[in-house]
Amino acid sequence: MTKSASVTAAESAVKNCYSTWADSYFRDYYTGAAYPPVHVDLVRRLLRDAGTRVLLDAGCGPASMLRGLADMGMDLYGFDLTPEMVEVAKQVVGQFGMPPEHIWQGSVADAASFCSAEMPAVDATICVGVFPHIPESIETDVIGHLRDSVRPGGLVVVEARNQLFGLFTLNRYSYELFSSELIRAQQLRDAGSAEVVDALLEELKQRFRMDIPPVRQGKSGEPGYDQVLSRTHNPFVLKERFEKAGFASVKAHFYHYHCLPPMFEQAAPELFRSASLAMEDPADWRGYFMASAFFVTGTRA
Ligand SMILES: C[S@@+](CC[C@H](N)C(=O)[O-])C[C@H]1O[C@@H](n2cnc3c(N)ncnc32)[C@H](O)[C@@H]1O
Repeated sequence: MTKSASVTAAESAVKNCYSTWADSYFRDYYTGAAYPPVHVDLVRRLLRDAGTRVLLDAGCGPASMLRGLADMGMDLYGFDLTPEMVEVAKQVVGQFGMPPEHIWQGSVADAASFCSAEMPAVDATICVGVFPHIPESIETDVIGHLRDSVRPGGLVVVEARNQLFGLFTLNRYSYELFSSELIRAQQLRDAGSAEVVDALLEELKQRFRMDIPPVRQGKSGEPGYDQVLSRTHNPFVLKERFEKAGFASVKAHFYHYHCLPPMFEQAAPELFRSASLAMEDPADWRGYFMASAFFVTGTRA
């Protein structure tokens, strides 16, 4: 499949964004983060329950997840779009005695990237932190590539940012969710009342903290996370897409709960952290609104 110019442009912006992040990403989001990486245990549980022996990590970054899985006795493989990430991932897996050829550069947008001469049939493929950067226009193709990467009966685990969390955050994300997904402002405007709709939307903004969260900038001139395509996903819609792609036993698993809207965190950080951690239950329905991230899992028929 030839990539469209807009997909190529989105990929190169994402590559640029992550190019300066390879050395610090693991520290920033795993070992040094204020909130512990609860998703690692969740992934370990999912892979163990599925009896995984051969694992592919599509968009492996600096082998951040692979480091947390290295003691499980699985045969590990991974690829990533960003050359700097691939370089660090090769070094890291080398420290665990894995051959560097188990890591390569590739894009989830290309079916060929999911193959390597070395790799036996894959029992499970994980894809963590990558879907925010996938243009909507190719998402169905990417889900198909993930499905085809595992053997029949194999497991696919995709992580996404929870769009419905915007119903709880009362900030800029809430306004985006209200105006573009729930109200569908453009349809109302098209129905012939553009001025009224725009005035009401301005009024709606007053109900939310539009100044938070701050826009994440790059470190040295490259675009930051919020300056490249970084979509959120509706768990109901992503589950449907998995089902349409032919996956069986499709489920959502929520994590990174917030006991209060995040703007209250600074007022009581210890309480916020401990009460949020106590809520971590991937199957709790409150996750649809109070968890900032989720996994969708499905098995290839
Ligand atoms: C948020 S990081 C997550 C890294 C790792 N999976 C983890 O969970 O720590 C996102 C990673 O996805 C990679 N990525 C973005 N778009 C990609 C694509 N189309 N194909 C493969 N990797 C991609 C980036 O280079 C970056 O390393």
